[in-house]
Amino acid sequence: MDVVLVSRTQAKLEATAEEIRAEHPGRRVKCVRADFTDPDTAAVYSHVGRELHGLEVGVLVNNVGLSHPHPEYFLKAVEDRSGDADGGKAALSAGWGPQLIDNMIRCNITSMVNMCRLVMPGMVDRKRGCVINIGSTASRIPCPLLTMYGATKKFVEKFSRELNTEYGGRGKHGSNITVQCVMPGFVATKMSKISSTSLMVPSPDTFVRSALQTTGLEPVTTGYLPHSLMVKGIELAESISESMMARTVMNNMLGLRSRALRRQAREQQQREEAQAAAATD
Ligand SMILES: NC(=O)c1ccc[n+]([C@@H]2O[C@H](COP(=O)([O-])OP(=O)(O)OC[C@H]3O[C@@H](n4cnc5c(N)ncnc54)[C@H](OP(=O)(O)O)[C@@H]3O)[C@@H](O)[C@H]2O)c1
Repeated sequence: MDVVLVSRTQAKLEATAEEIRAEHPGRRVKCVRADFTDPDTAAVYSHVGRELHGLEVGVLVNNVGLSHPHPEYFLKAVEDRSGDADGGKAALSAGWGPQLIDNMIRCNITSMVNMCRLVMPGMVDRKRGCVINIGSTASRIPCPLLTMYGATKKFVEKFSRELNTEYGGRGKHGSNITVQCVMPGFVATKMSKISSTSLMVPSPDTFVRSALQTTGLEPVTTGYLPHSLMVKGIELAESISESMMARTVMNNMLGLRSRALRRQAREQQQREEAQAAAATD
């Protein structure tokens, strides 16, 4: 299968394309640079549409996603920090502020809907195709302090489920297109900021190998048995007491938030000490 990679950073796109070409000589790999947080969504998707024109896309994977820099209260996460001493530059570059709202919606929702809009007509004409939308267990289990993220992933789950009913199935009314929502728990990536793997935090390779076993079989899945067991356990606890489960998760999230804030304070102190040392040299 030839591959089209669509993402934001040209250098990373080229590096991934080289990796694929080295592992699968003869396969063609095309890179399309697009920033899905760009407010000019019409321009973004007409560019992507032009780049895809004439290609028969058999499998579409909507993987792009944006989360909060760390768990945070909604109002704090989207607070306008332009009154900060640096004019809000540090907060903005870390991903905080009112723009987090639009960025997350554009990255997690608008991109998926538009990529389906661009690619699925060809699949419908050919009466075959597969769309894999990457959601998150955050749409199934409580995720306070990641409220925006969890809510956008709920959209991914619902959109995929209904689209699968509309376009799945064969026969007179079916288009024979599989639309699957894969909802991982933690995977060891840049987004999760977890580098060591374990049973509950698989590597991307382990996760993808497992998730691909479910394609065409399960329309909505975590894609990985230990994550499914975790979700079932939490759903069971919720069936006994939803509020108790919500409080338990909130306490865990507050722990993660405290750890992240301590790390941030340490890094800030190190930066200030380095600046002071440089100034006295
Ligand atoms: N990792 C987890 O624990 C976890 C758990 C549940 C669900 N998920 C979901 O899994 C998917 C993949 O996440 P990941 O962990 O692999 O995240 P990641 O390491 O942060 O990778 C995200 C990918 O999206 C691209 N991207 C980010 N912002 C973009 C933008 N504005 N425009 C275009 N491309 C952009 C990134 O490109 P650059 O590198 O160029 O920025 C990168 O290729 C996401 O949908 C995420 O929500 C992840």
